[in-house]
Amino acid sequence: MSAITLKNVSKRFGDAVIIPGIDLEIRDGEFVVFVGPSGCGKSTLLRLIAGLEDVSGGSIVIDRQDVTEAPPAKRGLAMVFQSYALYPHMSVAANIGFPLKMAGMDKAAIEKKVQGAAATLNLTDYLQRRPRELSGGQRQRVAIGRAIVREPKGFLFDEPLSNLDAALRVNMRLEISELHAQLKTTMIYVTHDQVEAMTMADKIVVLNRGNIEQVGSPLDLYTNPRNLFVAGFIGSPKMNFLGGAYASQHGAATVGVRPEHLALSTTSGALRGTAGVSEHLGSDTFVHVKMDTGEMITARSPGDFRVRHGDAVWLTPEDGRMHRFDAEGNAVR
Ligand SMILES: Nc1ncnc2c1ncn2[C@@H]1O[C@H](COP(=O)(O)OP(=O)(O)O)[C@@H](O)[C@H]1O
Ligand SMILES: [Mg+2]
Repeated sequence: MSAITLKNVSKRFGDAVIIPGIDLEIRDGEFVVFVGPSGCGKSTLLRLIAGLEDVSGGSIVIDRQDVTEAPPAKRGLAMVFQSYALYPHMSVAANIGFPLKMAGMDKAAIEKKVQGAAATLNLTDYLQRRPRELSGGQRQRVAIGRAIVREPKGFLFDEPLSNLDAALRVNMRLEISELHAQLKTTMIYVTHDQVEAMTMADKIVVLNRGNIEQVGSPLDLYTNPRNLFVAGFIGSPKMNFLGGAYASQHGAATVGVRPEHLALSTTSGALRGTAGVSEHLGSDTFVHVKMDTGEMITARSPGDFRVRHGDAVWLTPEDGRMHRFDAEGNAVR
């Protein structure tokens, strides 16, 4: 059992309030992603949970024990950072086994644990290499291996894939999800990348300026964003927003429609505009349209869709796919 509960957890650095007060329940075995723009307090919150920073107020409970005042080592969590923090002069095996050696475990037992972690992470053939002889993805796997051998109650990842190139990121994303499926240990994963959040999380916590904007499953957040911030943050390309007369016709200050929920026609539709740039991805074409109101809208069309820059086009939102927001930016249901 390693549920994690935050009760009104707050953090100030001097006069600056970084986290005003957060309540959050993380279930045992859950994969939770903290996502939000750079500087919103994701790392700070993770460090508070790890015990690397002291809370300014509130309490943290792990596995039914209040650990608010406990040092990191007593919390039973393992942290994996963006910078892998490997020892360059040590072999992969020694790096992975290091925390066990520090804990005074005997050599044979360490060897067995290291072999086990290496097998899980496909590092068996690399155990004698030094970190510099590894790719970025392999180095990150070593860092994860070092966390695994401790058999922690939970894993804390802080943007672990940010140093990797795009293709490798996609691979590692899958590997970490696969690891979670195998270990079934509670994981908290911090990222500014909503695609990582959507693809990996059981539960997403959207943070903004140290506050939780919304907590939910990826599809919850996609389908029922609670406010403009979440609506604009989750989904790629971003949700389109329209104000003015069209929004008031629908009884809202702002209406939002995702690019994938807009039908684009060159003959007729609900909203008229002029085609701008088309982005051809092969699978899809994203057409950027300047509406007659001056607003810019992106529409997703099939991969083989062709429209010329400057052509008149019409957009029609799919039935039931329009999001409405009041003047404060909260969703109207
Ligand atoms: N040790 C610190 N002292 C003062 N301010 C800090 C410290 N650590 C973080 N901050 C500030 O707290 C805010 C949140 O930072 P951080 O948690 O690193 O954001 P994120 O990880 O979401 O990018 C930022 O404004 C940052 O400058
Ligand atoms: Mg950070």
